Amino acid sequence: MNRELLITHASQLVTLAGPPRPRVGPEMRELAIIEDGALLARDGVIAAVGASSEVEPRADASALCIDASDSVVTPGFVDAHTHPVFAGTREDEYEMLAKGATYQEIAARGGGIRSTVRKTREASEEELFELAKVRVRWLLEHGTTTIEAKSGYGLTVEDEMKILRVIRRLNAETPLELIPTFLGAHEIPDEYRENREEYIRLVIDEMLPRVAAEGLARYCDVFCESRVFTVGESRRVLARAKALGLGIRLHAEQLSLGGGARLAEELSAASADHLEWADEAGIEGLRRAGVIAVLLPGAVFNLGLTRYAPARAMIDSGIPIALATDFNPGSSPTPSMQIILSIACAQMRMTPAEAITAATINAAFSLDCGSRIGSLEAGKQADIAVFNCSDYRQVPYFFGVNHASVVIKSGSIVADRRYGPGHIRQP
Ligand code: NIG
Ligand code: FE
Repeated sequence: MNRELLITHASQLVTLAGPPRPRVGPEMRELAIIEDGALLARDGVIAAVGASSEVEPRADASALCIDASDSVVTPGFVDAHTHPVFAGTREDEYEMLAKGATYQEIAARGGGIRSTVRKTREASEEELFELAKVRVRWLLEHGTTTIEAKSGYGLTVEDEMKILRVIRRLNAETPLELIPTFLGAHEIPDEYRENREEYIRLVIDEMLPRVAAEGLARYCDVFCESRVFTVGESRRVLARAKALGLGIRLHAEQLSLGGGARLAEELSAASADHLEWADEAGIEGLRRAGVIAVLLPGAVFNLGLTRYAPARAMIDSGIPIALATDFNPGSSPTPSMQIILSIACAQMRMTPAEAITAATINAAFSLDCGSRIGSLEAGKQADIAVFNCSDYRQVPYFFGVNHASVVIKSGSIVADRRYGPGHIRQP
């Protein structure tokens, strides 16, 4: 691709320019905004960022020009925790939740993750790819340009490999960038309920070596939770993953306090995710070990719970925070990072600036991509979202609206909603 891309006259060009590391404490509120800003990209890479009057003259006459007047321009969202490859849906459980059942009760009755596993096993690789392609569209149309994508609905060697191959193919054949995570330890499948040790051995001795040998995952994750995988079991799986060269992520302290945060510290995990029940010692451990906290308030909201992760205390104690959708068919079926920002601000008392930092540059660093994506700076990949808003705070404030009007991946337009619904300019 040789054609230049020029974005001009953005009301706010939210660059997030800053130190090349996750942002902590008050840094999370510094967005490095340029008013009447412009950005020039060449060959998919950002060539210049600055005032429109300075950047415009540097563009070729043939550059593809996007007029971003009355718009906010940000880095494309980096969604650092998703489960996008699955078959079947769980609106029946959604209704049970509405009638008062809990997520754990539904899981104990054989629903939850295990119900999605049954349907995903029945689906062919091709069917899973077609289903996930629709979700990839949703993600792009909402301003997301990179996701972390987990397996975890197969739970046999072949079915986990099948899901990871679908993730690899989505990465190759759609504009979305997917960073794969192996989550074989997501749940104990039906056939091993009476023999959990055998299943853990299968994950450690058969699944992990195959996944690593075929280069199908960059990270390994475990659902460390009471009645799922204990801290001891999680440690064994993750230690093997580490020895095989995979990075570590962890579902930790989601529904109860069990020690997952301390394990993330011990293993120097790239991220500890959820953390609704994390205590002070756990939080302090994450800070010491430089673990990024990936918060998933969409799951709390959607399960009808009220206990959110202590985002304020975490920010104040200097832990870098990322936000993610946790997109999955059970606890959090939303692809929209914009909704996640709204919930983060209203329920966890993050400021809109902190939320945007968490959804872009910090999320990128949690995936070891922070030097390439997550901010709008010369030399970085041109992954960009243009929003039909005149102030970045309107993105979470007008909640439930998809504000994304143009989405760009590596300098190419991958979603264009400028002439669709929502085109009318906001005041
Ligand atoms: O992050 N906690 C475990 N995994 C998902 C839920 C998956 C599901 O319900 O299908 C989560 O919330
Ligand atoms: Fe999850």
